[in-house]
Amino acid sequence: MTLQGFRGEILSLAHDPAEAPDALRHDADGLLVVEAGRIVARGAFAQVSPRFPGLSVTELDGLIVPGFIDAHVHYPQLDRIASHGEQLLDWLERHIFPAEQAFADPAHASAVAEAFLDELLRHGTTSALVFGTVHAASVDAFFAAAQARNLRMACGKVLMDLGPEGLKDTPQSGMDESADLIRRWHGRGRLTYAVTPRFALTSSDEQLESVGKLLADHPGVLLHTHLAENTREIAEVAARFPDAADYLDAYDRFGLVTDRSVFAHGVHLPDRSCKRLAQSGAGVAVCPSSNLFLGSGMFDFAQAERLGVRLGLGSDIGAGTSLSLLHNAGIAYQAGLFKGYRLDPFHALWLATGGSARLLHVDADVGLLAEGQEADFVVLDDKATPLLARRTAGATLAERLFALQVLGDDRAVRQTYVLGRCAWDRDGVRPLP
Ligand code: GUN
Ligand code: ZN
Repeated sequence: MTLQGFRGEILSLAHDPAEAPDALRHDADGLLVVEAGRIVARGAFAQVSPRFPGLSVTELDGLIVPGFIDAHVHYPQLDRIASHGEQLLDWLERHIFPAEQAFADPAHASAVAEAFLDELLRHGTTSALVFGTVHAASVDAFFAAAQARNLRMACGKVLMDLGPEGLKDTPQSGMDESADLIRRWHGRGRLTYAVTPRFALTSSDEQLESVGKLLADHPGVLLHTHLAENTREIAEVAARFPDAADYLDAYDRFGLVTDRSVFAHGVHLPDRSCKRLAQSGAGVAVCPSSNLFLGSGMFDFAQAERLGVRLGLGSDIGAGTSLSLLHNAGIAYQAGLFKGYRLDPFHALWLATGGSARLLHVDADVGLLAEGQEADFVVLDDKATPLLARRTAGATLAERLFALQVLGDDRAVRQTYVLGRCAWDRDGVRPLP
């Protein structure tokens, strides 16, 4: 098998910098050696290159970081981004549910899945945990498109037996279709299945019970849902589940809180929920641009850190305002500061890479740019715009990374590599429109 070398400035986080120091791995002039899509060596060019005489080396101009991992996103909402005027529950009714009805048509689902994955690659995102719609075929369309691009992806059919007319399943059909999708897709190539109840308000007790059963029957799959995003939503959950200690407890009673559970948002969590999340090993996908766009609130990083909650970063398109996890990291900083927390740019990079990878249980394979991992990486251009070039000239590494997060987006993604192959090249020759 041929070896490929990639030379450039390489940056990653080896572990959560909030948990232990010395997380930073930075090779100012580094070399990644890739064989059959996996990294077999990484380090300073001067040290690693003599071990591989005759290696063919591609010089990469920019900052090489792990491919971004979006821990919460809805592919069917791609074309509803920037829908005006409402907070969560009204926004769902007015903009999102009508758009999701169209995914009853598998051809529509395929077309959107293809466009969505191309957009992810353009934004430097190589893995994601993705909502489909209530239609099983929406997940077939997504996984087929992900498989064609060799991407490491997780997705699931949405369970919502209390959903609006035309967008409901039943406890039985939801369970049968999920089990069938798990059998056909989970663990196939780079794909993971996520059992996906929309949120507590759109599933009956009977359906939530069936979700617990699905998880017990299929121990390798993920659980993916929403949690404590919006104050009106939280009040409605409290009214629906009067015996539950809090929103998380409404899920916990049905066996939905485990180390394979990923909860989006968690903007308004009591300490009890955070402690239970930390104890179970479940994770929260922080979705800063969505939380701002829907007027949901600001995530409390200090509380999560104090109580040991595992975190990743999500775009939550279509409520989020950008698929770029650079942009979302920049908004996360601003949201954090609103509550007195200074999100460090390296910590933000961890959230968008290794943190999200750990939530998705794919951290053995992606997110760290470590030896033995799959070669999914991004080349960032810190001179992508005139202003970025001015701000990063002569700056420290931390300042350059922070500037990329505050000022950067898809324009700063020069190349995206999947398993050592270039899947997006910003400056490449592309056909005229
Ligand atoms: N809660 C339930 N459904 C949704 C959704 O589609 N988007 C967001 N942001 N929150 C939700
Ligand atoms: Zn969401």
